[in-house]
Amino acid sequence: VIFENSNDASIEVAEEIAKLIRRKQLSDEMCVLGLATGSSPIRVYEELVRMHQEEGLSFENVVTFNLDEYLPMDKENTQSYHYFMHEHLFNHVDILPENVHIPDGKVSNEKVVDYCLSYEKKIKDFGGLDFQLLGIGRTGHIGFNEPGSHYNSGTRVITLDHITRVDAAPAFLGIDNVPRKAITMGIATVLGAKRIVLLGWGQNKAEIIKNTVEGEISSQVPATYLQSHKNCTFVLDIGAGSEL
Ligand code: GLP
Repeated sequence: VIFENSNDASIEVAEEIAKLIRRKQLSDEMCVLGLATGSSPIRVYEELVRMHQEEGLSFENVVTFNLDEYLPMDKENTQSYHYFMHEHLFNHVDILPENVHIPDGKVSNEKVVDYCLSYEKKIKDFGGLDFQLLGIGRTGHIGFNEPGSHYNSGTRVITLDHITRVDAAPAFLGIDNVPRKAITMGIATVLGAKRIVLLGWGQNKAEIIKNTVEGEISSQVPATYLQSHKNCTFVLDIGAGSEL
């Protein structure tokens, strides 16, 4: 779906999420959301916060699982995805702290494999993701599933692509400060969601959006795996959709 601008598009996506949360509330169920970081979802989170503050949208029945976190990374570090999510969403809504899950960027090397398996298991124990929000990186990554990621990959440690580190460099004041690794949910974890919405804004995403939507499904552009999902929508602005 191509919108006139990212603001209108973000409001529409926030409304879909709010509707899902409310529907689950009516049937006394938890709403399990997979959440993304990066600049793309910021306006969606802002709108959800507004709905909480002005329209009484409650997050008491919401459980969240974030896609990824840099490794190593301290929670308190302002570049962490932990910090980002609290700054943009969790600090402003009534979600219960125990319902927030973000990969721990401080987990030790010895424990990280078990840690990733337990992250995956927690998602399954909640019955899987009801809704997964995604952005897309220039390499075609979703979460941090870089080129080469297999379609049945689960939550694991990944080595970041050079292009991804270049894109992150300004936020880290130089590429040397960008971590080389991350923990990411896998392609299979993402594809397990009942509903997926990928956000793409701006001309600089146009090429990768074209390759993702119109290219062959390939591990070289991991986002192409989304073509095989039965309930996935790409929500774009005119710039990001301009090469389709
Ligand atoms: C990072 C995140 C991704 C995100 C991507 C794009 O790599 N790990 O989840 O989709 O950035 O970021 P942006 O939305 O700022 O373009």
